[in-house]
Amino acid sequence: MSEVRGATGANRLKIGTFGLNVDGACAITTIDGVFHPTWDNVLDLTGAADAAGFEALVPVARWRGFGGKTNFNGACYETFTWAAGVGASTRRSTVFSTCHVPTVHPIVAAKQGTTIDHITRGRFALNIVCGWFEPELEMFGAPLMAHDERYAYAAEWLAVLKELWTAKDEFDFSGKYFNIKRGFHEPKPIQQPFPLIMNAGGSGVGRHFATKHCDMIFVHIKGENIAAAKNDIEEIRELAQAKYGRSIEVWANCYCVLDDTDAKAEAFRDWYVNEKGDWEAVSNLCRSLGIQTGVLPPEQIEAAKYHFIAGWGGFPLVGCADKIADRMEALSEVGLDGALLSWPQYSIGLRRFIQEVLPLLEKRKLRSPLS
Ligand SMILES: Cc1cc2nc3c(=O)[nH]c(=O)nc-3n(C[C@H](O)[C@H](O)[C@H](O)COP(=O)(O)O)c2cc1C
Repeated sequence: MSEVRGATGANRLKIGTFGLNVDGACAITTIDGVFHPTWDNVLDLTGAADAAGFEALVPVARWRGFGGKTNFNGACYETFTWAAGVGASTRRSTVFSTCHVPTVHPIVAAKQGTTIDHITRGRFALNIVCGWFEPELEMFGAPLMAHDERYAYAAEWLAVLKELWTAKDEFDFSGKYFNIKRGFHEPKPIQQPFPLIMNAGGSGVGRHFATKHCDMIFVHIKGENIAAAKNDIEEIRELAQAKYGRSIEVWANCYCVLDDTDAKAEAFRDWYVNEKGDWEAVSNLCRSLGIQTGVLPPEQIEAAKYHFIAGWGGFPLVGCADKIADRMEALSEVGLDGALLSWPQYSIGLRRFIQEVLPLLEKRKLRSPLS
């Protein structure tokens, strides 16, 4: 029987790995040591994170890359089968699948989720994404829905999924997008009433979706503004509580560059972004996101590209171990529950983080040592 340590565990600041299924993970650069998705690499790094007590292992849902020299994220593992394999090889962490709802029928997703929940003895969680990268969703032969309609579709998709996971009897479901006749689902997931649901909605409608229907939300911390993050986190909690009578965990995506001194870490980041970044891939990515001339001033576009290359636009944790622990403590103090982490040189970075930063987080009572 595995030891369950879910994402909603007791640590004040929870941590997770992000992107250990996609080429490059979160760094759009040509340097040696970026993550490549071989199964040995997946097992090595998810195993190291699991053994160190990381609460979450979260993959990226991707179907094709962003072009450029690296075709960033192009080579990737499918996320449910990834979660099944990772779940069978780990003991503690909650193992996520990230699912583009327009690409998987909820009956199939429910079955896959339950199967992984059984494989992991109750450590499965589902990150729901609606999709925004048109070329990958076009492969499925259907146009990308209008932004807000994606969330209406996701709400119905999730209603079907939850019904399958919880209904004692067969049920019919008749909606705008799904018509289920005599819906049936056995066995039920181990986690009751069902596994944790996460979403990264950043727009108004996305936030309503997440606070109404999900257990966890990712916030995107704009720039490096911790005061703005505080407002954002408070607004999300307020929306969840006041509008939907719910509480929700709030996580953020952060990238980590650790070195002996702050100056060395910053210089390394400048080098792997400015000298070694795949600027063509990041330009393609930004175009898909609508970050382009005519919409934003050139300096804002360049700054966005820099942070996308550095770590998918996440909140920067760059410096010596103490500085990184300071930044993580500051995030916790403004109410963040969890940080999803990635490193440009994933294997070196993750191991160094475990050795040098984790003990500092424990000293600061943000996390407890593993028992
Ligand atoms: C931490 C994080 C992880 C995400 N993972 C994915 C992903 O794996 N695949 C994907 O297509 N979109 C992903 N997204 C994009 C979100 O699902 C969402 O579309 C985005 O945050 C914009 O919010 P909106 O849809 O409300 O406009 C992610 C976003 C964040 C912040």
